[in-house]
Amino acid sequence: MPNLLITGGAGFIGANFVRYWNEKYPNDSLVILDALTYSGNMANLSGLTDFSFFRGDIRDTSLVERLLHDHEVDTIVHFAAESHVDRSINGPDAFIETNLSGTHSLLKAAKSVWLDKGSGKPHRFHHISTDEVYGSLGPNDPPFSETTAYAPNSPYSASKAGSDHIVRAYHHTFGLQTTTTNCSNNYGPYQFPEKLIPLFIINCLTGKDLPIYGDGMNVRDWLHVEDHCRGIDLVLEKGRIGETYNVGGGAELPNVAVIDAICAGVDAAFEHDSQLGRRFPDAPAARGKKSEFLKTHIADRLGHDRRYAIDERKIREELGYEPVRTFEQGFQETLGWYLANEDWWRATMDGSYLKWMASNYSERARRT
Ligand code: NAD
Ligand code: DAU
Repeated sequence: MPNLLITGGAGFIGANFVRYWNEKYPNDSLVILDALTYSGNMANLSGLTDFSFFRGDIRDTSLVERLLHDHEVDTIVHFAAESHVDRSINGPDAFIETNLSGTHSLLKAAKSVWLDKGSGKPHRFHHISTDEVYGSLGPNDPPFSETTAYAPNSPYSASKAGSDHIVRAYHHTFGLQTTTTNCSNNYGPYQFPEKLIPLFIINCLTGKDLPIYGDGMNVRDWLHVEDHCRGIDLVLEKGRIGETYNVGGGAELPNVAVIDAICAGVDAAFEHDSQLGRRFPDAPAARGKKSEFLKTHIADRLGHDRRYAIDERKIREELGYEPVRTFEQGFQETLGWYLANEDWWRATMDGSYLKWMASNYSERARRT
């Protein structure tokens, strides 16, 4: 019966992973360590009781050592990070501190408890990383495989690339039992509304502009968060120690196609449910108008990667991974979740959120 320490378990993917694991393995012990930064939210764990929660920083090595020791943790699943590319452009320091130094602190604690003072019995340090470490693809380039050379372009992706290398070094040099997954763009419930899909759903509902960076032809591979969790589960169960695995959703789409799907999905939801017009009177769809009229092209993200795509043959062939949702299914479920959980997303849009949004988007307006 594994005892897991989940870092960043109150964030978007971490909380979905806690829910996934709790349902599938109800007898396992789950310890969550999360600093509750702007994107961490205890409401993401609402309805769950079967976990121990510690508010703290992954850079606090002695706290992590204590948690590993006291809870007899044998598996770390490391999600905690600064995760938003735009914020890394406006303020890179936190990204270096959490993603790079924080991951190193965790590795030091794991080495100390499991290898230096411990028995060295089977353990696992699983590191969650991103496809952005591989850089940007041209339209005809082959998708990223695990052997693609690293070429990170943003402070965010550079900090994640650095963390991947430190994880690799702790395996190679000290024998720490590590695995890493590099996944594509996640979407689903509890995603903080600064990322494309939740932000644009909410803007359609509240009648705000849909700010499309540049020409909107950047391509991402969309992965439903629950499919991602299944991929992590497979790697924890059967992944080879020291290896990395790419996880994708099999849904490569230009941003404009995703945005059109959001607009059409919101419009259709209003047609089917007359209550929505009363709940969201500022939505164009409440007045029988199309959400697509909210689309506005604004100045591009600095250094904006053009295309990401995942070659997932390794995880499919070695571990039997396959995403179970199409983007259409996953998006409909996600839209349904945001329509049903207005209280959740309104509560996330506090003063500091509004301040960040204003500075991010007004800076672009100046450059347009
Ligand atoms: P998120 O921003 O929603 O959550 C991050 C969580 O980490 C929050 O709960 C936050 O409070 C916590 N945290 C931040 N700094 C911390 C610190 N110093 N100590 C302890 N906790 C801290 O991010 P997410 O989208 O859930 O991403 C989770 C992981 O997955 C990250 O490592 C990210 O790089 C990676 N990833 C995300 C995506 C995506 O599409 N969202 C895709 C690929 C990889
Ligand atoms: O590829 C994996 C990465 O996916 C993760 O490592 C990151 O943590 C995660 O944030 C995500 O990064 P992106 O930059 O791809 O996601 P984001 O939702 O910020 O943007 C998706 C695309 O939409 C991107 O091309 C930028 C564009 N975009 C985004 C926002 C927020 C817009 O056009 N307008 C917007 O307002």
